[in-house]
Amino acid sequence: MANLQKKYWDRKINEWSHASYNKQSKISFVEKIATFFRSVNKRKDAAILIVGKQAKGKSILDLGCGLGEFTFEIRKHSPKKILAYDISQVAIRHIKTNVKKNKLNNKIACKVVDASKLKSIPQCDMVIGLGFIDYFTPSELKHLFKIIGNKPYLFSFFEKKVSLFNLLHKIYITIQNCPGAYKYSRQEIESFIPKKSAVYFFEKDGLQFMSNSRKFAFSK
Ligand SMILES: C[S@@+](CC[C@H](N)C(=O)[O-])C[C@H]1O[C@@H](n2cnc3c(N)ncnc32)[C@H](O)[C@@H]1O
Repeated sequence: MANLQKKYWDRKINEWSHASYNKQSKISFVEKIATFFRSVNKRKDAAILIVGKQAKGKSILDLGCGLGEFTFEIRKHSPKKILAYDISQVAIRHIKTNVKKNKLNNKIACKVVDASKLKSIPQCDMVIGLGFIDYFTPSELKHLFKIIGNKPYLFSFFEKKVSLFNLLHKIYITIQNCPGAYKYSRQEIESFIPKKSAVYFFEKDGLQFMSNSRKFAFSK
């Protein structure tokens, strides 16, 4: 499955990112429609509002960083270091080129990593994942939350519920041959999290997030 996910994103990440962040390029009709419903750019902006004030001097792990739109934006909030991990070689190659071009080698470390296979979370102060946990199976999520432990995290998620968006998204991922995209109810997510760990589900600018950090969940 991980290999299929890697192949999918190696093939998809450029078009997905160009469509999602309104960059100029040739974008398929399906991707244009999907982008209209996804609000990825708005989600990144909302995440910056949530964690931006806490980022100064901190080290941040950006899981499933894609082409690094969040990574480069959070840089403006003076973190000590950002670790940008993604399963896609195409994505990481793109970030590496930008890191080199902007002389950010001492600030951004990027790496091809299948995060579902991590044995532990690398040294960092917070973990961020935008559009990331949606590609994890229940057992992968259980493992992820176990290794994160009490480290502050922020994940976006699409809640499992009956909605036009979810119906269209299901059609989209079927057309795209996505090897695994999942939606979970809040109860399901809670069942993946170790007992006694706090979890807050909240919205920012209409986008859904979850976190174990009160500072993130109640950020102004
Ligand atoms: C929907 S994109 C989101 C990209 C970026 N976070 C953003 O919001 O612009 C999902 C990203 O997660 C990555 N991904 C999926 N499964 C992964 C895994 N097991 N480990 C690391 N990255 C993964 C994909 O390669 C892709 O870049």
